[in-house]
Amino acid sequence: MERITTIAALRAELDKVRQAGKTVGLVPTMGALHEGHASLVRRSVQENDVTVVSIFLNPTQFNDKTDLAKYPRTLEADCALLEACGATLAFAPSVEEIYPEPDTRQFSYPPTDSVMEGAFRPGHFNGVCQIVSKLFMMVEPDRAYFGEKDFQQIAVIRRMVADLGFKLQIVPCPVIREEGGLAKSSRNTLLTADERQTANHIYQTLRQSRDWVGQMSVQEVHDKVVSDINAVPGLEVQYYSIVDGQTLADVRSWDESSDIVGCITVFCGSQPIRLIDHIRYKG
Ligand code: PAF
Repeated sequence: MERITTIAALRAELDKVRQAGKTVGLVPTMGALHEGHASLVRRSVQENDVTVVSIFLNPTQFNDKTDLAKYPRTLEADCALLEACGATLAFAPSVEEIYPEPDTRQFSYPPTDSVMEGAFRPGHFNGVCQIVSKLFMMVEPDRAYFGEKDFQQIAVIRRMVADLGFKLQIVPCPVIREEGGLAKSSRNTLLTADERQTANHIYQTLRQSRDWVGQMSVQEVHDKVVSDINAVPGLEVQYYSIVDGQTLADVRSWDESSDIVGCITVFCGSQPIRLIDHIRYKG
């Protein structure tokens, strides 16, 4: 696997790849890689001749700068994992390389980017669209792989791809979970062993809530999920939204859509660490 830090070197490598008629898969990451990322990379390696993995902790998507400062940075271990997964190129540029000038572009895809994470982290999805659109322009992949853990992010990126006319396929990949159910996330390394156990209650409650759908209204399921999770010491729900899986608009009845997903964000522990997850009720 080759490590590249400049856009010029990336383009030079990819020109050769294109001239040889090879296909390119892109896995965008912010580093601190885990089994969830590895599953995306392995899938890309299976489906493309060349797999580019970007490792770039994108400052423009952090509205909370202490969150950015806390984010784990593990470049050497990341590269070892990518090598083991069969990635071809690791692209790990500096902030100056990606943003030689401040990026003033504004993206707006309501309601996908204005609800839930968009409401609680203003500017977050604008930053995601800035970096992902730059990566798509630099790499020009045939396919780009994203984890379904960030369910809302995929909906926003789909809108951006349609809006800007990128010629590529978005490949959503299933959530990878710890044994107890906690969705794998780079932020999990910031939890203590006890907090990880506590955090397992989030997905356990979401799974249970699927059984309530036949007997309860959308509002009742919503309220019970929130109260059951809040009853666990060390957990505090920031929001729980039951939405249409495509538009992310709130649904009020189970008949309103054929694709219904519950999306949650929970604070865990004393620091606290913000964890997101989701459950599909229909579709
Ligand atoms: O999902 C992430 O890790 C990031 O939002 C992404 C897509 C790599 C953009 O920085």
